[in-house]
Amino acid sequence: MCGIIGYVGGREAVPILIKGLEHLEYRGYDSAGIACLSPDCSGFFVCKEQGKIGELKARLNGVPTQANSGIGHTRWATHGAPSKTNAHPHLGQNGRVAVVHNGIIENYAELKSELKRKGCCFKSDTDTEVAAHLIESYYHGDLGGAMRRAAARIQGFFAFVAMAKAEPNRVCALKRSNPLVVGVGKGENFVASDVSALLPYTNKVMYLEDDEFVELTRECVNVSRLKDGKPVRKQIATVSWKAEEASKGDFPHFMLKEIFEQPAVLRRTLQTYVKKTGGIAFDTLDRKVKDHVKRTGKIFVVSCGTAYHAGLVGRYLFEAYARVPTEAHVSSEFRYSDPIISKNDTAVFITQSGETADTLAALREAKRKGARTLAIVNVAGSTIAREADAVVYTLAGPEIGVASTKAYLGQLLTLALFALYVGGLRKRLSQSAIRGFTREASKLPDKVREILGTSESVDSAAGALFTKGNFLFLGRGYNFPNALEGALKLKEISYAHAHGYAAGEMKHGPIALIDETQPVVCLVPKGTKTYTKMLSNMEEILARRGIIISIATKGDRAVQRLSRHVFWIPDTLEIFSPILTAVPLQLFAYKIATLNHRDVDQPRNLAKSVTVE
Ligand code: F6R
Repeated sequence: MCGIIGYVGGREAVPILIKGLEHLEYRGYDSAGIACLSPDCSGFFVCKEQGKIGELKARLNGVPTQANSGIGHTRWATHGAPSKTNAHPHLGQNGRVAVVHNGIIENYAELKSELKRKGCCFKSDTDTEVAAHLIESYYHGDLGGAMRRAAARIQGFFAFVAMAKAEPNRVCALKRSNPLVVGVGKGENFVASDVSALLPYTNKVMYLEDDEFVELTRECVNVSRLKDGKPVRKQIATVSWKAEEASKGDFPHFMLKEIFEQPAVLRRTLQTYVKKTGGIAFDTLDRKVKDHVKRTGKIFVVSCGTAYHAGLVGRYLFEAYARVPTEAHVSSEFRYSDPIISKNDTAVFITQSGETADTLAALREAKRKGARTLAIVNVAGSTIAREADAVVYTLAGPEIGVASTKAYLGQLLTLALFALYVGGLRKRLSQSAIRGFTREASKLPDKVREILGTSESVDSAAGALFTKGNFLFLGRGYNFPNALEGALKLKEISYAHAHGYAAGEMKHGPIALIDETQPVVCLVPKGTKTYTKMLSNMEEILARRGIIISIATKGDRAVQRLSRHVFWIPDTLEIFSPILTAVPLQLFAYKIATLNHRDVDQPRNLAKSVTVE
């Protein structure tokens, strides 16, 4: 989704804007642009390009701007095709105001007709240009005042950053629903869609709330309420992530780097939530939340995409170990299904970014209906982390690759520990049983490392199958969600069609697909309740000459006999098995995508942080 950066300070603005945009690339975009102002007020220098930031950089090469302030944008098209003309920033009618925007202006058609009647000429097909003309039409020397008046007319959700030609040392921004973070520097200040764009410059940040307005100069950051200008006192938070964590290092892609970071993510999660005694503690939860969870009548787990697959595993976990009736929902369906929720229920929202619009809307709906809300979030300070009643952080660090990998493993382990913890609170599990589980969990980082060190079988299977256009993934129980996840990973980065299915359902339809050309990935770790049933399903595939690729426990001859390719994983308890089976699935998708020369980190049409519904 669109990425925004704004800068005001004493340094040359263009390289800062470009670097900020590069750190926002992972959000997904189709064009990019900047506008900056030099102190002589001679007018905006605007440069935009369709395609990658590299194209924009090439156009800027050697152009002297001497600007110390500016705004920049990466666009993910909503209104109007991806093109240079539709790229942001957009200027008002007389070039006195420049605007970048993330979000959707729902009443843009009505505003556009009104502005056209007043003589505005539109150059682009975007809703954002409407905001630029509107702000300029209200501009009489005070950018803040003009933005407030414009915001009062705009329906929808948005984050705007704007500058006025006559005020070169001032950048103003406001937001409703879409994220904006202020970066506080020394003699310079920043605003951006997320902290990753700020990390190269500062780790001191202020998270803006909805309907807040901020004015940045070199020396000051003033936040006020949008509606009446009343000053708001904000806390400055310190971000613990390092700029290096958000860089690729020696890896060819962020996705591969993040897959290899997974042992460290699991270790950090264990160090944070498992005590030296082997018990589990979630210290960020206060007594009220713990009491509520202890008595809760029902749990709703709500999330999107990969996080939804973690939610499905969560459902099995909460039912099995905490004995709480649990439903898992896709956020976009949950919100509109008029869910039957009571005050006694707990709604758990899982999200890497903490900004996914559907999940945020679902959270607000659950709160409106009186449920206690808990967010399992990776990005500290994100909107969902701030709005939920309680937060449990996944400790994956910045995830830049669009395809979620390390955040998913972090979610799976955090959910497993949390379900065991709730089981303990509700006296469904003894502390010694919990210690048994955490003893096994402590071995997971090394087990994942072992899988990463023996991935030749994944390479050879991918080499044999990368031209196939259709894959089926089958699993049961705790590994059924991973069949969905394996298929999602493959399709989103390789563009091959892939379908995940509950293996027991195969005979009710998908078996018709099986012939000697059909690859079927079977998740069949040993020691699960459904192991023998999985073997029977594999026999059925083999009888129809399907190509079986299995993920199996080391040394499992029965599986090996049925399979063309096997990805071995170490033995573990059933509840942790998805943490291990996910890893070869990620590597398989990665390998197939790279053999097909796909843009693994930024697959077409996708965005990392989906801030529109
Ligand atoms: C797939 C992927 C997406 C996200 C989904 C939710 O690899 O990354 O399916 O999982 O968009 O995003 P978050 O977790 O940020 O709410």
